[in-house]
Amino acid sequence: MQLARRPESCAIVIFGATGDLTRRKLIPALYSLAYRNLLPHHFAILGVAHTAQTSATFVATMKKAVKQHARDPFRQDVWDLLSEGMRYVETEFGNEDGNDRVAEALEEVDAEHGTAGNRLYYLAVPPKTFTDSVTEIGERRHREGWVRLIVEKPFGHDLASACALNDLLHHWFREDEIFRIDHYLGKETVQNMLALRFANGIFEPVWNRQFIDHVQITVAEAMGIEGRAGFYEPAGAIRDVFQNHLLQLLALTAMEPPIDFTADAVRTEKVKVLKSMHTPGPKSVVRGQYGAGFVEGLEVPSYREEDGVSPDSLTETYIAAKLYVDNWRWADTPFYVRAGKRLGRRETTIAIQFKQAPHPPFEAIAGDDLRPNVLLIQVQPDEGVSLAIGAKVPGAGMTIRTVHMDFLYGGSFRTQLPEAYERLILDCLLGDAALFTSEDEVEEQWKLVDSIVGGWARDRTNFPNYASGSPGPKAADDLIRRDARSWRRH
Ligand code: BG6
Repeated sequence: MQLARRPESCAIVIFGATGDLTRRKLIPALYSLAYRNLLPHHFAILGVAHTAQTSATFVATMKKAVKQHARDPFRQDVWDLLSEGMRYVETEFGNEDGNDRVAEALEEVDAEHGTAGNRLYYLAVPPKTFTDSVTEIGERRHREGWVRLIVEKPFGHDLASACALNDLLHHWFREDEIFRIDHYLGKETVQNMLALRFANGIFEPVWNRQFIDHVQITVAEAMGIEGRAGFYEPAGAIRDVFQNHLLQLLALTAMEPPIDFTADAVRTEKVKVLKSMHTPGPKSVVRGQYGAGFVEGLEVPSYREEDGVSPDSLTETYIAAKLYVDNWRWADTPFYVRAGKRLGRRETTIAIQFKQAPHPPFEAIAGDDLRPNVLLIQVQPDEGVSLAIGAKVPGAGMTIRTVHMDFLYGGSFRTQLPEAYERLILDCLLGDAALFTSEDEVEEQWKLVDSIVGGWARDRTNFPNYASGSPGPKAADDLIRRDARSWRRH
């Protein structure tokens, strides 16, 4: 990453510092930023949580986390730089003494580390402590320099709760100080979607209903719920992945060209897409829940047998839907989307399937092998873009076969891709919200989810309805087959 300007000095305060996210993603991301010299000249990291522990223990745990999870090799000099101003503050959220302790620690780091009263607060806290944390930060607001808040998901549970969170945040902060994170937007390949569409002249003219037959978006995971039943049971696939990551991928695929890459311009275009989506009917949505099976050679239990999951749980671990974006560009072009856990393998892709060539003169010879063109954006793994085209098989006659023109990140750039959290934390340090979701986007996303969930009250799907390691429920195949199409194999 190359920087046009360096972030201003500030303190980075992580609420929920003893959680998994801090260990696995946030501190390793900060380490990688330090490794590339991208952090401010003066900064300090404050971990805040309710667990009692000393700063020394916290720092030691974070050091271990960096060794285990950072994408860069461990270097003592980088670690020294990162950990120099690192400390831990134990606080009961919403408790007066705890607030004072955070305030005192911040004053100390300002004095000792030159952090200039600027604050980046990272809220990685469970929903029940969210109000207390925001209020605590808000009350101190006028005594500080600039303040920015990164807010982790889940951002609410439905439209009403998301609106309430937005109201709470706006009571204390301006919209340009609030950074609602969707880590998919920090992924290089997701941003490459914008480069592909808007930095090339050849795609936009065909990026519409006249040339595109349909779009398929897949967010498949091999993982189960990884011990997160408390979070997952009330959420399910629709709130965990569909409401945010999947709808963001769809919005980026379908949006009009923004006039520039500022937060306002990009987000305005995405909101228009989200607003033009209507509620799919019950036949256009499929829910699934995994049963036992084998994933990557290992035997795994069913969802209902996972720790903390109710034995008759009706939570979905899979969702597929046929969605429409009702505007001039996309009218009548289906977007088939699916997301699920414990599928055969991990794969996130956006496949743009073009219409058949109108009159291939080789039809008689090519048989089934002449397939329509597909532009496949491989978000992960094997990051890259691939265009399927028909080509002549060498030799006599005119046999056509589908071949692939591939661009692979690894091959072209010979550099490791940064983790999404590196990019997003850096953008927030720089005050750039283009890759964060706005209030309107979040609310539109919830509107769609609420309307789908509303229809599930009468849903009688029998769970489990797909085996772990399989491609998903049969009903999802039926959903797309009814339109004489099929899912890309994954
Ligand atoms: C998170 C979800 O937001 O995204 C998880 O809560 C999911 O359930 C994860 O596993 C997927 O992220 P990634 O970056 O591994 O594709």
